[in-house]
Amino acid sequence: MKQKIIQQTEKFVKDKLRNESSGHDWYHIYRVKNLSLNIAEKEGADHFVCVMAALLHDIADEKIAGTEEEGLQEVKNWLESISVEEPYITHILSIISTMSFKGGNGKEMESVEGKVVQDADRLDAIGAIGIGRTFAYSGAKGQLMYDPEIPVRETMTKEQYRNERSTAINHFYEKLLKLKHGMNTPYAKKLADDRHAFLENFLEQFFEEWEGRR
Ligand code: ADP
Ligand code: NI
Repeated sequence: MKQKIIQQTEKFVKDKLRNESSGHDWYHIYRVKNLSLNIAEKEGADHFVCVMAALLHDIADEKIAGTEEEGLQEVKNWLESISVEEPYITHILSIISTMSFKGGNGKEMESVEGKVVQDADRLDAIGAIGIGRTFAYSGAKGQLMYDPEIPVRETMTKEQYRNERSTAINHFYEKLLKLKHGMNTPYAKKLADDRHAFLENFLEQFFEEWEGRR
């Protein structure tokens, strides 16, 4: 029964994200789902809730839905239409709404399942995949990969992100290198340390090559 619900939901999400180019393509969802399962195993979280929340976590994002409310309503309608039991619906919606609430003043995740899926989403922004996504995003926005004349801003508002020039390399300092400090679960912290070290090695080599020293 749960397996069928997961399969139907995968198809629903895949169809919705078919033409998505804002960095929230289906394979981001695919990775977050697998990573959530991996972390859930170690942290003793409910697999069904983690997989469902991972699959649906970006549907309520402003970039995909008109507004967050419309997105959450759509997720609710979907879960009801495939007869997911009420306590599961409430739990999944609560995770998704906390996740799509952006910015530093976001609420703490209440359940271990929420912590797991949030960790998986953040992990997908670092490591080799995170580097790839950053350069892809920057390229799509017409940014340079690096420009020594553009300063790094330690804290950036959403407005600044939209309106000011940045580079792929600046994004490492503005966001990626900070993500490991925000992990909720012990196992995700371990994975984040590993991915973080990979970012640092990448940057070190990048600047050496930039100056022609390596
Ligand atoms: P999410 O909603 O999953 O947190 P975002 O929409 O903020 O992700 O970003 C999608 C991907 O694009 C992430 O890998 C992120 O690091 C990257 N990204 C976001 N903003 C920028 C930017 N200004 N420059 C380069 N990469 C960015
Ligand atoms: Ni995401």
